[in-house]
Amino acid sequence: MEQIEKRDHLIKEWIKEAAAISKNSFNNELIVQEKTNRTDLVTNIDKEIEQFFIQKINRYFPEERVLGEEGSGHQMTDLKGIVWIIDPIDGTLNFVNQQNDFAIMISIYEDGVGQSGYIYDVMRDELYTAYKGQGAYLNDQKLPRVEDKALGQGLVAISYRLMSKENNEAAKKIGKTSSGVRMIGSAGLETVHVATGRLVAYLGASLAPWDIAAGKIIAEEVGLLYTQLDGQPIDLLNKNATIVATPAVHKEVTDIYRNEIK
Ligand code: IPD
Ligand code: CA
Ligand code: CA
Ligand code: CA
Repeated sequence: MEQIEKRDHLIKEWIKEAAAISKNSFNNELIVQEKTNRTDLVTNIDKEIEQFFIQKINRYFPEERVLGEEGSGHQMTDLKGIVWIIDPIDGTLNFVNQQNDFAIMISIYEDGVGQSGYIYDVMRDELYTAYKGQGAYLNDQKLPRVEDKALGQGLVAISYRLMSKENNEAAKKIGKTSSGVRMIGSAGLETVHVATGRLVAYLGASLAPWDIAAGKIIAEEVGLLYTQLDGQPIDLLNKNATIVATPAVHKEVTDIYRNEIK
């Protein structure tokens, strides 16, 4: 616990410094590169922030491993010991096109179990944190456990990829049953919106460990369920089709997927 408190202080400091890097970049031209296709981008700022965290972690916690989106630890085959999971900018397309709705995400896992998670909504200055067994917070204010609403009682975020997948009646049915569908474009922010009750679920088509790790800890601390779409546990070494939802919506959605996807 003492360790977590020390880290907590440092991590919060680092996140604010990283946020300043991201905001200062608005005054300069970004260097934008395509990774696998024209909608999969990385900027010099994603890389700079990841390197910033790696230097700090190497200095303060040299024994610990890091898994980061922009190249760190991609050869990792297990989550033994302490592993930092980092997404330097979640919502890079929003960062590039809107300068809004992007987040900095960090989490710490020990032997595969989430210990603490941080999601910083940079432009709203909202820091979501969670500590295993001790609850989740928004800017140091404890978040209440979520109300267990049903699908018909709330808004859902469904990734466009899932919505537009051919022969995918399940996502359409889920959208129709809900009060309405929203798309933000940051897995982390969509997850914290479920954690605060603004959404009742977020469904992701193909999320990587760094898209999931911090949000999963925050979600579970407020009583949400975060699994693969078929209800299987998340695999933090691979990509996952995901759902984070209230227990009632989780059941409705995973039932629809299990029964309707053939
Ligand atoms: C992406 C965002 C997006 C989700 C993608 C992620 P990135 O993260 O979270 O909302 O649909 O699957 O890859 O690449 O902007 O960090
Ligand atoms: Ca990316
Ligand atoms: Ca991401
Ligand atoms: Ca990213």
